[in-house]
Amino acid sequence: MELWDNYSRKIDYLRLSITDRCNLRCIYCRPGLIKAQQERKDLLTYEEILRLVRCAVEVGISKIRLTGGEPLIRRDIVDLIRAIICIPGVRDLSLTTNGILLPYYIDGLVAAGLKRINISLDTLDPQLFRTMTGGRLEDALKGLRWAQERGLNPIKINVVVLAGINDDLEPFARMSMEEEVYIRFIEYMPLESTNLATGDSMRGLSYQEMLEKLSSYGSLRPTANPEGAGPATYFRYQGARGIIGLICSESNCFCQSCNRLRVTSDGKLKTCLFGSEELDLKNYLRDGSTDEQLKGFLISSLARKPQKRSQKFLSRDMSEVGG
Ligand code: 5AD
Ligand code: SF4
Repeated sequence: MELWDNYSRKIDYLRLSITDRCNLRCIYCRPGLIKAQQERKDLLTYEEILRLVRCAVEVGISKIRLTGGEPLIRRDIVDLIRAIICIPGVRDLSLTTNGILLPYYIDGLVAAGLKRINISLDTLDPQLFRTMTGGRLEDALKGLRWAQERGLNPIKINVVVLAGINDDLEPFARMSMEEEVYIRFIEYMPLESTNLATGDSMRGLSYQEMLEKLSSYGSLRPTANPEGAGPATYFRYQGARGIIGLICSESNCFCQSCNRLRVTSDGKLKTCLFGSEELDLKNYLRDGSTDEQLKGFLISSLARKPQKRSQKFLSRDMSEVGG
């Protein structure tokens, strides 16, 4: 079965935020601890997540990403990965992590069948890393090294670029020349809460601004998107081992190729990251509905998926929707 929405977009990708908890405090994501943590009873359980994935795959989803918060904070993460990989029809499973806990979990994750990973890493400067995230750069880099040594591939590094803060992209450009990694620069998406905390002072770099900076470091050539579709535009420095990607939802809207549904850490289904509409998926998982009813709900939710984003700000913190 395939899932198509009203605008001829094939929907085959589900992003699941499995916890809103995180061991870092990235300034663009969880600015001032404004929000209390969600209560444990509001997070989806292991069984609920597996049932959801099984039903989603049966209606046409084939790619799954686990996000957070920090997904490695969940104690059942290795079991979850192993169980999801065993669900027939799951063709691709990935994880977005800040890397800090990777040294502790990598062997379990690899044994469970995880093949690839995305690591959020916004700067290679230890002092700035501390300021931007509250954590230690060496811990994140250790996580990255372990993922490389254990053979995860591809490894994609996500860098959210903020003007005047971490907009010196040269260290990452150099890294992409030497190492076989993807480095993807992400345009900052304004959150309502960040905006309140910083009074609108935080600004991202646009596609054009990033491209100009990157081009000043070396000869950058466009390269085909290795995965076919997807929101990133890819480039490579001449002779480089790694790949540079730009993901700019603000200056380069990619709504027309959006292929995803999202589930928040408290079990709400979002058909658009920027829409405030949330459908009460958790209710279907807890009110005795049958699998057929749950699948019907997933299919009917597609009618709610807007053609384009309508809001300027994200209504939820990224730690609850998982990027
Ligand atoms: N804008 C853009 N990207 C963000 N992320 C978190 N908050 C934001 C934001 N406001 C990114 C993280 C991570 C991914 C899950 O989302 O860096 O890579
Ligand atoms: Fe944690 Fe990721 Fe948010 Fe940073 S961006 S605070 S690592 S959830």
